[in-house]
Amino acid sequence: MTVPPPIVAPSILAADFARLADEVRAVEDAADWLHVDVMDNHFVPNLTIGLPVVQSLRGATTIPFDVHLMIEDPRRWAPGYADAGAYNVTFHAEACDDPVALAKDLRSAGAKAGLAIDRDTPIESYLELLPSFDTLLIMTIKAGFGGQRFIPHLLDKVRAARRHVETGHLDVRIEVDGGITADTIAQAAEAGADAFVAGTAVYGADDPAEAVRKLRARAEHAVTGA
Ligand code: DX5
Ligand code: ZN
Repeated sequence: MTVPPPIVAPSILAADFARLADEVRAVEDAADWLHVDVMDNHFVPNLTIGLPVVQSLRGATTIPFDVHLMIEDPRRWAPGYADAGAYNVTFHAEACDDPVALAKDLRSAGAKAGLAIDRDTPIESYLELLPSFDTLLIMTIKAGFGGQRFIPHLLDKVRAARRHVETGHLDVRIEVDGGITADTIAQAAEAGADAFVAGTAVYGADDPAEAVRKLRARAEHAVTGA
């Protein structure tokens, strides 16, 4: 298995929203991406932030934004996040009837395109779409809330995706999201994930930047033994 160096993306869902800019700056030197969870109270029951907040936050930091849209009708909203300067915009397969068309729109708007697969969605029929995408986000919980417990058997989807990416020589990051901690990140890395979202494990720590570095070291160690 040849896997690129791991990406660690703290999720702001677990941050203190009253101090959001400070919370982001606390990790910007240690982290690779900032994971921004957008929820609309329709696709998932929870509600977080939308485009105006992401636009203002974009002006407060230089870290690349990994926007995770847990929303209905992503064709209507997703390109706005690319226009706002998001590095990667991920939308859910379950919410979109033409994922390849939306991926093209996102790339034309200057962002990378990500496809997310929720807990109860089989991955097989989506693997053939991967050449149109830059990231594949495999949920390791049911999307909607932070602080849930990691579900190990969902790593079977990561293994299937890694095999597909290797066989097809695809340039696609395989990202896992949900319950990623210092205790679970190694098994996700061994399964073939190379980008790791962590909310509680970063912002629940006394030193969020140190927590990011520790997570990356564990992921690296799991794959290279170094
Ligand atoms: C939940 C979000 C996750 C969440 C992860 O639907 O997509 O990004 O913030 O939080 P933890 O790391 O606490 O599971
Ligand atoms: Zn997320």
